[in-house]
Amino acid sequence: MSELYPLTVTNIVKETRHAVVVTLVPRPEDVSHFAYKQGQYLTFEREFEGEALRRSYSICAGLRENQLKVGIKKVDDGWFSSWANEELKVGDVLPSMPPQGRFFTPLEPERAKNYLLFAAGSGITPILSLARTILEEEPQAKIILIYMNRSFNTIMFREALSDLKDRFMTRFSVLHILEHDAGDIDMLSGRVDAEKLDNLFTQWMSPKATDTAFICGPKPLMFLISERLQAHGMAKENVKFELFASTPPKKARAKTTSSQDKKDVRVTVIRDGQTRIFDMARNGETLLEAGAQEGVDMPFSCKAGVCSTCICKVTTGNVEMMSNYALEDYEVERGLTLACQALPLSDEITLTYDEH
Ligand code: FES
Repeated sequence: MSELYPLTVTNIVKETRHAVVVTLVPRPEDVSHFAYKQGQYLTFEREFEGEALRRSYSICAGLRENQLKVGIKKVDDGWFSSWANEELKVGDVLPSMPPQGRFFTPLEPERAKNYLLFAAGSGITPILSLARTILEEEPQAKIILIYMNRSFNTIMFREALSDLKDRFMTRFSVLHILEHDAGDIDMLSGRVDAEKLDNLFTQWMSPKATDTAFICGPKPLMFLISERLQAHGMAKENVKFELFASTPPKKARAKTTSSQDKKDVRVTVIRDGQTRIFDMARNGETLLEAGAQEGVDMPFSCKAGVCSTCICKVTTGNVEMMSNYALEDYEVERGLTLACQALPLSDEITLTYDEH
């Protein structure tokens, strides 16, 4: 596939019992494709039992480090993450897409901004990249990081966070909330629920005085934090998410019947100036799935409406998304869609990847 480039593994560090930090380098001729922004991720491809799997992992390095370092936590039944934790070695080559993602805001060194960062488990990976970059590039910015973990042993980047605290003592503070290893302070132990968040937002920090909040972790917790931040005065557009892109959820789709198998939807795909046309049925298949069956090269990663790799613009016709955790409302109004979630509503649809 045109968008994959070989990256060579140059270092692997065991970060916790179940997580590694992997450093990779592109070939000299590919370096320009791998300039990244804080909070972005890489998407790797590897074949397991004959199936090409793509998995995205966030870059943990700040902009100044200028290194492709990703954190990979082993998850139950996760083929790629288990393989990366147990078998990947220095010298191996991994095909990767260039850095992607929109989990950042423009850097404004002249402003004194306040940030709240929330991370759960390995959600710390892009958050660490954001914290490092903001502290280094916005000299007046202040950050409070709330980092939620099951127990002390699962805290990733403990050392890196404490180094950052030492370097930016007056501008960076970290609150660890541990589910199991309860400490003396109630607010910093046990499960995070609405009551705990409300207490934090009234007694320890002020969402109203916050310019941007970044949240990364599992979906229910992220939605809860976002909702409570908004209830405490933050505007929705200042709350940024990065959801874990895990296994695509089973979708409630229309059952295929023979009449729905009629390929009466004509789809035109424009990418890199090339036009491809195919016909598809209205049988619950997404535009991405139908395109793949016709051999049309359309970018994807999570296939779950999370990562935004498949963003394109509908310039003719209508589609509806089954789920969307990547696009803002105003972007959907402008015609942007996620091909991995888009079902056809009209008989003619044109998608372009060249303008959005
Ligand atoms: Fe991730 Fe579509 S492939 S949002």
